[in-house]
Amino acid sequence: MQRLILPLPGNEGFAARLAALCEGELGAVETRRFPDGESYVRLHGDPQGRPVDIVCTLAHPDSAFLSLVFAADAARELGATEVNLVAPYLAYMRQDKRFHPGESISSLSFARLVSSTFDRLLTVDPHLHRHPSLGSLYAIPTATLHAAPRLADWIAANVPAPLIVGPDEESQQWAGSIAARIGAPAVVLRKTRRGDRQVDIEVPDLSPWRDRTPVLVDDIASSGRTLVVAAGKLAGMKPPQCVVVHALFADDAWAQVSGCFERVVSTDTVPHPSNRIELAPLLADALLRGLRD
Ligand code: R5P
Repeated sequence: MQRLILPLPGNEGFAARLAALCEGELGAVETRRFPDGESYVRLHGDPQGRPVDIVCTLAHPDSAFLSLVFAADAARELGATEVNLVAPYLAYMRQDKRFHPGESISSLSFARLVSSTFDRLLTVDPHLHRHPSLGSLYAIPTATLHAAPRLADWIAANVPAPLIVGPDEESQQWAGSIAARIGAPAVVLRKTRRGDRQVDIEVPDLSPWRDRTPVLVDDIASSGRTLVVAAGKLAGMKPPQCVVVHALFADDAWAQVSGCFERVVSTDTVPHPSNRIELAPLLADALLRGLRD
């Protein structure tokens, strides 16, 4: 049975690409606010007897989440055989531990809420720190896709003689796999985070790579401080470029980051003017395989 793909507002473009690639039917979710601020949700498309994939990137999770739950519940009540969440960017991954007394562990709470609403979750490069996989947070089957091969292919096609630069130890995983795929050298910097918008970065001797173009790769650009500080440490090198997976660019981050690089590109997991690398084919393939890793 043809699947029904329902984008929350703001996700129509990505959902349309998915629907075309999966030969699914593209529906719509109408939302508005009642005068007192409550959310109204109406599905356009008939969920009866078929899988429904609700597409919502979670770059702004707090404003989207209730509508997402209402849409999922409506799809189930109207006869969907399964209701999946396609979240190209998955939120609430950073607070995965109680760092200070009394803090909420929001990644656990968010995972519980999503798991009680959807049958399956499909996402790209979730920001896993202390949990080895989404399976240790989420009670539903999850499929985690990786953007690194697509980033690598874009760099190989667009940047001659790149030096892949990871801004911190966590980025070793994608910097290493990108470099290996395209046969480029990689270096990983050392970052110490001092606050939400304060990072220090130490750089090893880069003089052996002065004839190469540094390409900073990271999973998330949020405040942008990691990229800005890292770019500032590349003096003496060719003008740096930057490729990120999830283009959150909060507040003035885009202005800050774009001023530090010759070029900044991102995947389309979060709609942004820097989007150049399409991941809809990756997600469509996972949907067609039944959302399994
Ligand atoms: C680090 O843990 C991540 O890989 C990113 O480097 C980080 O989330 C970027 O955050 P920001 O843009 O706020 O420096």
